[in-house]
Amino acid sequence: MLDLTSHVLPVCFYGVFVDGKKPRLSNPLQEGEKLDFSNGFILHDDIIGARPGQTFKTNKGYQYRIEYPDLDTYISKVRRKVTPVYGSYANSIVSLFDIHVAPPTSVEDSHEPLEILDAGTGHGSVTLHLARAIQAANPPLPDLELQAPGSSRKSASDGFLERSSSVDEERAQVWHDWRQSRRAVVHSVEISPVYSKHAEHKVVAGFRRGLYSPHIDFYIANVDDWIDGQLGQRKLESFLNYVFLDMPSSHRYLRKVVDAMKENALIAVFVPSITQICDCVQEINANSLPLRMEKTLELGEGISNGRIWNVRLASKRARDPIEESSMIHRRLGDEDKALQEETDTQSEISSTTTPQEEDSSLPLLEAGPEEGGTSKEPVMICRPRVGERLIGGGFVALWRRTAS
Ligand SMILES: C[S@@+](CC[C@H](N)C(=O)[O-])C[C@H]1O[C@@H](n2cnc3c(N)ncnc32)[C@H](O)[C@@H]1O
Repeated sequence: MLDLTSHVLPVCFYGVFVDGKKPRLSNPLQEGEKLDFSNGFILHDDIIGARPGQTFKTNKGYQYRIEYPDLDTYISKVRRKVTPVYGSYANSIVSLFDIHVAPPTSVEDSHEPLEILDAGTGHGSVTLHLARAIQAANPPLPDLELQAPGSSRKSASDGFLERSSSVDEERAQVWHDWRQSRRAVVHSVEISPVYSKHAEHKVVAGFRRGLYSPHIDFYIANVDDWIDGQLGQRKLESFLNYVFLDMPSSHRYLRKVVDAMKENALIAVFVPSITQICDCVQEINANSLPLRMEKTLELGEGISNGRIWNVRLASKRARDPIEESSMIHRRLGDEDKALQEETDTQSEISSTTTPQEEDSSLPLLEAGPEEGGTSKEPVMICRPRVGERLIGGGFVALWRRTAS
């Protein structure tokens, strides 16, 4: 077998074949199967037992090299049922959480486990990336040549493990005990049974023979119901250290999710358009949710660390005479003079969330015609921090749970 560490969930193994062009992901390798190419085929039997980097010829003499699939290639090439979060974005999202775990020591520690909610599971891309970030916190897997109870599954309603009757009870107990001893876990919640099962049994279990599977619990549930179920079981104690929301209308779930977040926990929301981040900001403001915006990033090809956006609600202060004259000049079309005065004017807008973040270098052309005092109606500030427009990619916003 290829040089993979042995794990308890040896479901399937994929290889990547490179012929100098695009890498291609194989099907899981199985005795008696063959890999078809446009220029011949290679028998799986020939590959099983090979080392990464080894080359093979098709029956027609075309040469391919076999490699391990890296996570990015794997995510984008493995069969999908739903569009994944591509590897580079998933990496950026997970790095925003700045998770640092320490391996367990021989000294008994009584720390509460680190718990992450990942909703929705979808393709399982972010799930895998999160599991990679936390797996080092967990004790070594039990050494029993144990086949993990593949049918183990929790549901929001019953919350207990259903076990396949074929699984030996003793091994199931050892597996159960190991799961109970985990110091970090990703709870991956998905409303669609089809997507959840595909992510769990194909995508996650198929990556390096299930390397990250033991660190993830999959649930088929609406995330609202899942939170209710968990809070019920845990007697309303908040338990989440990190939350990642990647679902349609994510803003609608903020109210519920925030109840389950510990103080200082982080929540990231990933959405295709900046207006959906605005929806979240408005939802937080309208319900006075204890969440403080940390940052909003635009993710896209060629934006290495994400472009920072300024998204927040603000109220406008009374305009001083200079600003008033600036508006008049603008209305009269005297743009040069207006621009000069705008540059001289400092911080017209006072933030209701992060006052220190206002970027005073940007002219406030969206200024409204209010007269004196502070407007009660907040206005939405939403623009790239560098004053440019970019097209494509997604947006991720990060909030921290504050004291209620
Ligand atoms: C864009 S996909 C998520 C992609 C995923 N984060 C990944 O890394 O591959 C959105 C998923 O949210 C699921 N979903 C939608 N509403 C949901 C809800 N209320 N609770 C749980 N999952 C939900 C959808 O079925 C879909 O699979």
